[in-house]
Amino acid sequence: MHISTPAGLDRKESEIYSRLDGERLPRHIAIIMDGNGRWARQRHLPRIAGHRAGVASVRSTVETAARIHLPALTLYAFSSENWKKRPASEVDFLMRLLRRYLKAEVPTLNKNNIRLEYIGRRNELPEAVQERMEWARQATAKNTGMVLTLALNYGARMELVDAFTAIVHAAANNGGLRHLKIDEELIDRHLYTRHLPDPDLVIRTSGEMRLSNFLLWQVAYAEIYVTPTHWPEFRGRHLLEAIAEYQTRERRYGGLGNGNGAQP
Ligand code: FPP
Repeated sequence: MHISTPAGLDRKESEIYSRLDGERLPRHIAIIMDGNGRWARQRHLPRIAGHRAGVASVRSTVETAARIHLPALTLYAFSSENWKKRPASEVDFLMRLLRRYLKAEVPTLNKNNIRLEYIGRRNELPEAVQERMEWARQATAKNTGMVLTLALNYGARMELVDAFTAIVHAAANNGGLRHLKIDEELIDRHLYTRHLPDPDLVIRTSGEMRLSNFLLWQVAYAEIYVTPTHWPEFRGRHLLEAIAEYQTRERRYGGLGNGNGAQP
């Protein structure tokens, strides 16, 4: 069923939104923002121009997501591998861009009732970045609308290593390993994403059909949507198009689909 168009959507967004089932929105969308470098290269610009342009895409996507009352949006901004595989000058630029983004964006996040969170090994980031992150988190902590989670120095395998380590340490300090019973719920509670439902939809821009070590545990049943659009060209309307496609998919969670009989 369709419910009334939320305030603030532009004409194109409203048109796409009118085709959505407002009661079957995903609860959590996770985005692999890719293609900044390719976008820049196509324009004979330095890679950092692509990252700079990518900030406008972040802004548009976050605002549209909040306007349609998406409960949670997670953006893969910086993987744990990015450190090793990119020139130091590019990493420095990304860190400066992030600091600037956080400072500039807090008023807009507050205006849209968005709470900011992070996943990833924060303590390995530069001190000044960590301080700005904590400042922005606290400045938005009272908001009750969408949770915007930035994955920074994030890797899914690293997250699982950290979760298992925390589980074993907690057990060792609390009666020993003999009584430790590991189940899925216990692992969930020790992931960086313990504040979030699992993503229903993963979007990857720029055409690559990979998960690149992003939320591997959490996306077990997520729908994956890959668009050829490079991240700097991605806008709120593309988010809505992804949701429209998601709503055409039939999610089975290992069971039989609606169109199926009971036969194996
Ligand atoms: C991938 O493009 C993008 C990144 C590694 C960085 C993402 C950063 C931003 C979108 C801007 C800042 C983010 C925030 C949250 C303020 P790529 O460089 O891997 O592109 P390529 O694969 O075409 O080279």
